[in-house]
Amino acid sequence: MNSAKTHKKIMLVCLGNICRSPLAKAIFLEILNKNHQTRNFFVDASGTSAYHIGEEPDPRMSETAARHGIKMNHRGKQLTYQDLQDFDLIFAMDKQNYQDIQTLSPNNPLLRKVYLFRKFDPQAQPGESVPDPYYGGSQGFENVFQIVSRSCQNIFEKLLSREI
Ligand code: 4NP
Repeated sequence: MNSAKTHKKIMLVCLGNICRSPLAKAIFLEILNKNHQTRNFFVDASGTSAYHIGEEPDPRMSETAARHGIKMNHRGKQLTYQDLQDFDLIFAMDKQNYQDIQTLSPNNPLLRKVYLFRKFDPQAQPGESVPDPYYGGSQGFENVFQIVSRSCQNIFEKLLSREI
């Protein structure tokens, strides 16, 4: 038995909480399942906005996920200050989300646990965001799927090796 805290709480954040962050939650849960790690993590998703509270994921996102064998199971909710306290790691899908999280409590040391999600995409340039697919075409959703898959896999590996 190791002495480290085992139950790590991970929050994935986008704007509407119907496309990118619920997809990231579904993919991360799938990775945990495959690796028999579900007991060691708690994963959730939320939005910086209140636009889609209570809603199911955008069908364009869930259909893209389903084509890759991933089932999305989530209802929209808004990130709260309590989440900032409760979660160990918070991943923002884009720079605007990152900024908006900072404004929840400016200069608060808790903000050290907030990362730009694509920092962990091996194919991204420094500072790149997960593009918002909401107003675009179907290729945008597939692109988001690929980005989120790569990033989740790398985040998982870095968590296991305690690099984050
Ligand atoms: P998400 O995508 O932030 O990835 O969930 C969006 C969903 C809805 C809106 C914008 C982005 N919206 O403006 O309603």
